Parts: sequence; C-alpha cells; structure tokens
Amino acid sequence: MNSPKLFSPLQLRELKLRNRIAMPPMCQYSAIDGMAGDWHLVHYGSRAAQGLGLMIVEATAIEPRGRISPHDLGLWKDEQIEPLRKVVAFVKAQGPAIGVQLAHAGRKASGARPWEGGAQLSPSQGGWECVAPSAIPFKEGELSPRALSKAELGDIVGAFVAAARRALSAGFDLVEIHAAHGYLLHQFLSPLSNRRDDEYGGSFANRSRLLLEVVEAIRKVWPADKPLFVRLSATDWAAGGWDVPECVALSGILKERGVDLIDASSAGLIATQKVIVGPGYQVPFAQAIRAGAGLPTAAVGLITEAAQAEAILEEGKADLVLLGRELLRNPGWPAQALRELGAESFDGRPSEGDTSLRSAASTGYGRGLAPQYLRSLREMSR
Ligand code: FNR
Repeated sequence: MNSPKLFSPLQLRELKLRNRIAMPPMCQYSAIDGMAGDWHLVHYGSRAAQGLGLMIVEATAIEPRGRISPHDLGLWKDEQIEPLRKVVAFVKAQGPAIGVQLAHAGRKASGARPWEGGAQLSPSQGGWECVAPSAIPFKEGELSPRALSKAELGDIVGAFVAAARRALSAGFDLVEIHAAHGYLLHQFLSPLSNRRDDEYGGSFANRSRLLLEVVEAIRKVWPADKPLFVRLSATDWAAGGWDVPECVALSGILKERGVDLIDASSAGLIATQKVIVGPGYQVPFAQAIRAGAGLPTAAVGLITEAAQAEAILEEGKADLVLLGRELLRNPGWPAQALRELGAESFDGRPSEGDTSLRSAASTGYGRGLAPQYLRSLREMSR
C-alpha cells in the first residue's frame, strides 16, 4: 500500500492533524471593524471542505493600532468572538483543525489594501499613528512610527493574552504568534529596526525579550493540550539584519518556553531587502531550525507540487507543508495530490472527510463533495 507522508497524521500535544497539508495565514482585508463576515465563512469554509489537515486564519489584530489595514480581522474586543466562532465551527465540521494568527503590525500598520495601492494611510486619510521599537519608518517617505515606552510594552503583552483568550473562546485549536514579515515582534528582533538602548534592544537576549514575554504570557492562558506556533522570518535578506543563526538559537528557546512548531518564513523587514525567490526557497530555513533547535517546523513559500511537498517531508526538512497562493488558485489541491501520489488511504481523518476526499480524488471534486456540504449545513442548523 502506498502511504505518502503528506497524508499521514501529525500529533501536536493533544491535537491530531489528519494530514500534513495546511493553509498559511493570508489576509483577506475584508473585515468591518475587525469582524469576520460572510466572506470569511465562505473563503475558509470552502477550502476546509477540500481535505486540508489545518488552516490558519489570517493575521488577526490584537489591538486596532496593530492592523495592517483598516479592514483586518481583529480579536481586540469580545464582539469579535461570535462571528469567528461560526467560521471555526464550520471549518471543524469538515475535518481540518483551525488556528488563528495573532498579530500586531507595528510600523507597517495603517496601510491601504493591496488592491487600493497598499500605501501608508496618514491619520487624515483614515489611518493612525504607528508604534514600533524605535522611531524608524519602514521606508523612506513614510511617517515615522512612535517608539513604544516600556510601560506600553506591558500593554502589548496584555493585548496578546486577551486576544488568545478570545481565540480560545471562539474554539480555535491553536494560536500562531506572528513574529515575521517585518511586523511588530519581528521589528524587535531585528537590529535594523530595533535601536533601543533599554533591556528590549541591543543584545540578542534583549531583542528577543518581547516575543518571549508574549509567548510565556500566552502559554499561561492557552491550554496545555493545545499547540502554540510561532511564525518567524528566518532572515531579513539584508546586511546587518536578523539571520538564520539567531533564528535557530531563538527557536531553541521558544521550544523550552512551550512553543510546539516554528512556521519558517522570511523577509518583510525592510524595503531594500534582496530576496532570492524560487520553488521551495524557504525550505532550508525550516530544515535548519528543525535540525538546530529540535522542534517541528512548517515549510512555506512556493510549494506547489505534490511530489515536492512529499519530498520535503520524506527528507525530514519539515513536519508540515503550507500552501498559500496555490490553495487560493486551486482549493482542490489535496484531492489532486492524493491522486498524484497514488495514496490508497490515510490515517487520522474523520470517516466523513475520508469518504468525501477519496471520492473527490477519483470522480472529480463536485460530485464527491456535495453530500458533505449538505451534511455539514444540516448539522450546523440543528
Ligand atoms: C499572505 N501571507 C501572510 N503571511 C502571514 O504570516 N500572515 C498573513 O496574514 C498573510 N497574508 C497574506 C495574504 C496574501 C493574499 C498572500 C498571498 C500571502 C504570506 C503567506 O502566508 C505565505 O507565507 C506566502 O504567500 C508564501 O507562500 P506561497 O503563497 O508561496 O505558498
């Protein structure tokens, strides 16, 4: 029997992912006042019904000032729990686990949506004052952020914790802390954006302090049976910036503090970065962290082919593969991969998902999936 690793379960604390195909967080810029709406239910729900093991909901702001755009999701107030609970319930009914990425954009907050140009919005254009470790803008021509005081850092930690409690109340299986892509926690890690002279800047230990405080505080309220992920940019792709050796060292400390998996991405810190992009270009980072820090990793970035994904897992470079844009283009990718890899069965799925995915792989997506949609809708309306 052919049993690809891609379709084998992954156990993280008490959470068992039915396979190792996951959707990474991807901003939809479609929330009103941070609230999930019909778009989120349809976007996440439709992909959930296609055989994923895990999906991670987009960057979700822990405070309004931390939104990338005015249309980001949020978990900074209790009213935002209920609409997300609906998304979570629907997704779980299809079989995948579901996590949420908790985020603060720091100096990269207050922007227009990508399809509106993505430029920084000044307060007079509906934007707001940005905060950061140091008063250094992301790029020339942007308004300078305000450096956070030490007392304000305590408030940021508190807001991460409050958002994690709300995520728990919404029913999420896991939380991912966003410390990548040049957002606030990454801004603290990198010497290019952190020029502080207090205990939150300077040495590696000082630059890591805020992230470690966030992790420790969240781990206290996030149940011991549920996993905690951290997304890191392994390198800034820039001279004098954050790089792989520090990232591996930090990952080892994060493991000791109760982090279960590092989602290994890169870049986003400065506009002058020089990223070398190609198929699987960030896989070596997942591999270096896994080998050097000894904890599970997720690989992400231009992973599009079933054989490529399978090789990453088989060769021990990562424990989970994340497909972003490929799942936007092709939500039926898991069924396609099942067929391409010739898998006859895979473990750890609820029997309902099992049947629908196998029939989708053999007979085409629509016919196999329709009954499952109907069953789930009936369950939700009970
Ligand atoms: C992203 N990405 C992203 N990353 C993140 O950590 N939080 C986020 O909210 C988002 N938002 C987002 C929106 C959109 C539209 C895209 C395309 C991407 C990055 C994403 O998670 C992933 O790391 C990259 O897309 C690289 O993977 P792929 O697309 O090459 O598989």
